[in-house]
Amino acid sequence: MKLMATCSAVAPALLTLLWLSAAPASAAAASAPNIVFILADDLGWNDVSWHNDQVVSPNMQQLVDTGVQLEQSYVQPLCTPSRSAFLTGLYPYRLGRQGPPLADLTPTGLSLKHTLLPERLSRLGYATHMIGKWHLGFCNWAYTPTERGFDTQYGYLLGSEFHFNHSVGNGYDFRDQREPDFTANGTYGTHLFADRAVRIIEEHQGSDQPFFLYLALQNVHSPFEVPDEYLVHYPEVLDENRRLLLGMVTALDEAVGRVVQALKDTGLYDNSVIVFSSDNGGVGMNGESNRPLRGGKGSVWEGGTRAAGFVHSPLLQGTPRVHSGIMHITDWYNTFLALAGESVLPDNDGFNQWESLVDPSVASPRTTFIYNLDYEGEEGMFGAIRLREYKFVISKGRDLAPGKETFPWLFNLKEDPNETTNLVEVEPGLAMAMEILMLEELPNVVPKDHPDGDPAGDPSNWGGVWTPGWCDVP
Ligand SMILES: *[C@@H]1O[C@H](CO)[C@@H](O)[C@H](O)[C@H]1NC(C)=O
Ligand SMILES: *[C@@H]1O[C@H](CO)[C@@H](O)[C@H](O)[C@H]1NC(C)=O
Repeated sequence: MKLMATCSAVAPALLTLLWLSAAPASAAAASAPNIVFILADDLGWNDVSWHNDQVVSPNMQQLVDTGVQLEQSYVQPLCTPSRSAFLTGLYPYRLGRQGPPLADLTPTGLSLKHTLLPERLSRLGYATHMIGKWHLGFCNWAYTPTERGFDTQYGYLLGSEFHFNHSVGNGYDFRDQREPDFTANGTYGTHLFADRAVRIIEEHQGSDQPFFLYLALQNVHSPFEVPDEYLVHYPEVLDENRRLLLGMVTALDEAVGRVVQALKDTGLYDNSVIVFSSDNGGVGMNGESNRPLRGGKGSVWEGGTRAAGFVHSPLLQGTPRVHSGIMHITDWYNTFLALAGESVLPDNDGFNQWESLVDPSVASPRTTFIYNLDYEGEEGMFGAIRLREYKFVISKGRDLAPGKETFPWLFNLKEDPNETTNLVEVEPGLAMAMEILMLEELPNVVPKDHPDGDPAGDPSNWGGVWTPGWCDVP
């Protein structure tokens, strides 16, 4: 069955042949594609060249121009929740991760009850590599990448750091596997991450083993730092933050280009799938832009949750193409497992989207998703839900308007993608039905897992390096 699921979208005739000849499991593994998932950090909707021609991102533009541009690919409003959803295939509210990102000293991490994507891929014969930002907990080694299914890990464990000296507060945060790597000090993070990605790809040259590379770049997350060479593209941009931000996009683009070039140079490209996405929208205040979408990072508005992204692979048909099928970041879990040959996909919040990505005539299997869902004492329920083109929002008033009331909104995103016209009073029945769908989900909300910070984790206790070992696991 493994082989069936792997290739059915690609080459049915060949598949039948292989199937009839009862190819051994290792042959199935050899045909499974390499999967490269590149996650940008805080990249705004309007900060990519295919939405804004001011942006210089020629490598990604080339991948879009020959691939599938994702125009309704949704993520969570914040970093930790999005990463949690990606690696579990579950909505963060099922994990207690629907709230704020993990703070540096928060003594917890992504729930250990769930098997993460790399562990599943590993069981299917994949080599698994994590590069860049983790931000899913590190107070105990049990929460860290190499304990959660990644064969290798290179990068940092917290949520953001200085791009050149890799420090966060009073500690250094950069590791190669479990060891602090001080040789990284002084070199721009995105350069290091691209170097390592290229090295890993080169090491796979000629190997039968497929690999999964999770490349979680820090660009374009603050602090705004970038080598001067990337700023020359933007002499006309006078706002300093905007110029730095755009330079960081161009540096990110170069890293993506190097990864693709390495795949081509090693001959691995033909059997690789490259997915690119932002983890959430741009902040919208520091030079990032989600225009024309409403809102930004931290909100369930489209500007916070509708991610710039694309899929590029020689395995895709009918390219180039703009794909408007609804997708959610939880979908990659089952999509990648299906690509890897998993015959029985887990029952989670995601859909296997591969058929709809590969074949222009196949519609997305998804018509609904939950942007976020939570409950707080007297403030009641808040979050947002999607049903086809409709979006219903109950948000905490303080985030969006004066006062503490909650405001229900209903939008028709097909006619009003920028969320300007509230239809709650025009379509009260639909609004109520969508609110009921959310209410029905409330019993599945796991209380937010955000214990108070623990000074035991302070790097001054750990030789100046952010280090696991200061919390117990449940
Ligand atoms: C790291 O770089 C930032 C920005 O230049 C600087 O403010 C900070 O002091 C540096 N930290 C260390 C430990 O060198
Ligand atoms: C990184 O390099 C800077 C500049 O040489 C130095 O001040 C800093 O202490 C170094 N950081 C670590 C953790 O060694």
